[in-house]
Formats: sequence, structure tokens, C-alpha cells
Amino acid sequence: MERKSSDGVLIGLAALGLGAMTAAIVYGHAGDTDVVRFAIRMTARTSLGFFLVAFVAGPLLRLMPGPFIRWLAGHRRAFGLSFALSHATHLTMIGLLYSLDRTLFWTLTNPVTVATGVIAYGFIAMMTLTSLDALHRRMGPKLWRGLHVLGAWYIWISFAVAFGKRAVMNGHYWLPVAILIVALAVRLLGMMPKPAKAVAA
Ligand code: HEM
Repeated sequence: MERKSSDGVLIGLAALGLGAMTAAIVYGHAGDTDVVRFAIRMTARTSLGFFLVAFVAGPLLRLMPGPFIRWLAGHRRAFGLSFALSHATHLTMIGLLYSLDRTLFWTLTNPVTVATGVIAYGFIAMMTLTSLDALHRRMGPKLWRGLHVLGAWYIWISFAVAFGKRAVMNGHYWLPVAILIVALAVRLLGMMPKPAKAVAA
């Protein structure tokens, strides 16, 4: 994929926004576990936003092409890398919470979630590294696509599980669950072969 200078601008803006948001939340309160937990939740939500754009932009372009969708699809990589940045911040805040209060950390999570989360971060790291042109070329298109498709689905499932288990206890979480289901539908519809008529047109 050709690297665009506007990708750099988008990623820079995402980094600035994430840095400003996280600093505004924790500045002066980095020892307060409630504040750090809030930062963990907020970064999970910014991650969801960036991820969803990267996840559906391609299929959306097939389903309803238009200038805005084309722009989104053309900047998929920037949204994917912004997701990686946001989730790195999520991890940093998790590390901060762990260092502040291990007992609280283990009441909020468990070894299975940590293990599945480590796999998710493994995918995110590999997808980020292979977004670099040199590695992208070296990998070849088949392997690259395999990794990115598998990683994207694994991350979708991670979000669905993380929000789904909270939705059972707090009704507000049905909103992100519903958004994830719509994204799933868009992605699956976008994978379906186009009818011959549409292809000819
Ligand atoms: C080692 C890996 C991870 C650990 C230890 C971890 C830990 C946590 C903790 C402790 C919270 C709850 C904060 C609170 O309620 O105060 C949280 C929230 C959350 N995490 Fe992570 N996480 C990990 C990876 C991931 C991954 C890979 C995803 C998704 C791709 C994810 C998505 C979420 C979501 C959606 C929330 C809820 C946000 C909200 O309440 O709105 N996490 N995480």
C-alpha cells in the first residue's frame, strides 16, 4: 500500500489527542486508582473508534462507494495505527494500575483475560510492524493479508467479549455491543460477491 503524507498527519493528530486526553485525566492524580481506571476505560473506547473505522472502511467502500467512504478506506492504515497507539495507552494505564494496587487489578481481571489480552497485543504488535512498507513487501501479499484478517477478527472478538460481559451487568454497554454487531454485518456483507450486473456496471 502506498504511504500517504496525510496518514502521518492523521496519526500525529491521534497521538496528540490521545496524549492530551490521557494527560488531562491522570495529571496530578496518577496515584488515584479510580482516575487510572477511568483512563483505562476511556482508552478502550478511543481504541474501539479507531478500530471500527479500519475494520469496516474497506467493506463499506464496496457496499456504498462515495467520496467520504473512499477517503476513510484510503486512510485505513492510519486508523489502524491510531488504534495501536490508543491500545498502547490502554496497556500503559493497565501497567500503572497494576503497579498501584495489584489486589484491585486482580479483582478487575483474571489470568484468562490477561492471556487472551496478551495474544491480542501480539497481533497488534505484528500488524503494526508489518504496516511498515519494507516488512509489508518482504512478507508477500498472501501472508500479510492472512495476518491482518486473522488479527482484525481476533480484535473484534476481544472487544465483543470485553463489552459483552459488561453489558450483562450494566445496560449502557449494549450500545458498543450493538455497534460491534453492525460492524460485523457490514464486514460480512462486504465480503459477499457482487451480483454480475453490478460488476458489469
Ligand atoms: C493484558 C491485556 C489486558 C488487560 C490486563 C486489560 C485490563 C482491563 C481492565 C482492568 C479494565 C477495566 C477497568 C475498569 O473497569 O476500571 C479494562 C477495560 C476494558 N478493556 Fe482491557 N485489558 C487488556 C486488553 C484488552 C484488549 C486486547 C481489549 C480489546 C481489544 C480490551 C478492551 C477493553 C474494554 C472494551 C474495556 C471496557 C471499557 C469500558 O468500560 O468502557 N482490553 N481492561
